[in-house]
Amino acid sequence: MKLIMLGAPGAGKGTQAKLIADKYQIPHISTGDIFRANIKDGTELGMKAKSYMDAGGLVPDELVIDLVVDRLTWEDAKNGYVLDGFPRTIPQAEALTKALAEKGEKIDAAIDIDVPDENIINRMGGRRACVACGATYHIVNIPPKVEGKCDKCGADLILRDDDKPETVKNRLEVYHEQTQPLIDYYKAEGVLKEVDGTVDMNDVFNAIVQILGA
Ligand code: AP5
Ligand code: MG
Repeated sequence: MKLIMLGAPGAGKGTQAKLIADKYQIPHISTGDIFRANIKDGTELGMKAKSYMDAGGLVPDELVIDLVVDRLTWEDAKNGYVLDGFPRTIPQAEALTKALAEKGEKIDAAIDIDVPDENIINRMGGRRACVACGATYHIVNIPPKVEGKCDKCGADLILRDDDKPETVKNRLEVYHEQTQPLIDYYKAEGVLKEVDGTVDMNDVFNAIVQILGA
């Protein structure tokens, strides 16, 4: 099963992608997580990506496309994957369609998690992310069992650098301008599925499972 998660920053793409990956036994590929891991490790890619990310802008397409196209050739992705945060621009979507078409493949579903901007701003300040495994929590909505520690691996939870209110505003603007057009792109491809992302995370997941089939 080859899936794409669409939705504004903070819509719950990462939260749902992890649940989907567990249930369907496919890898969760998050470009945001890949960049954050590179920043943490001080790689050249990380250094290039950091300034764009900290400002709430997008990392240039040429730094993203080859990285993802290569990631999709790994052994663990042969039965499918859930892409989270990619594609994010029309050129990225076109590059993905082309790379898949060369292998006679296509995306099965692009799941758009719909959450209005005003809900997003509230969510982001409360988000905490695991430094080690990337699991996300919310201090009120989805708290960890032990404050400040990841339920899954016990590592520390942090507030992401780009979750400051000013940066979140920029990310939302960039989303509406550059990423939202992908909804029409995947509608035209006949694979768009929409879910209400304002309800409880388990209800969002159930809606997705219904769409995908058990
Ligand atoms: P990325 O890491 O992809 O960030 P994003 O799209 O801004 O999305 P988030 O991770 O912030 O939100 P999410 O939808 O995953 O929500 P989450 O599940 O955490 O990208 C970061 C940056 O990297 C970009 O700004 C860009 O610079 C760069 N980048 C990445 N990919 C790129 C690309 N392809 N091209 C160019 N640049 C790229 O949930 C949010 C919060 O809400 C959490 O606290 C969660 O616990 C809570 N929550 C989740 N679901 C619910 C619910 N149903 N009810 C209540 N709370 C909920
Ligand atoms: Mg995420």
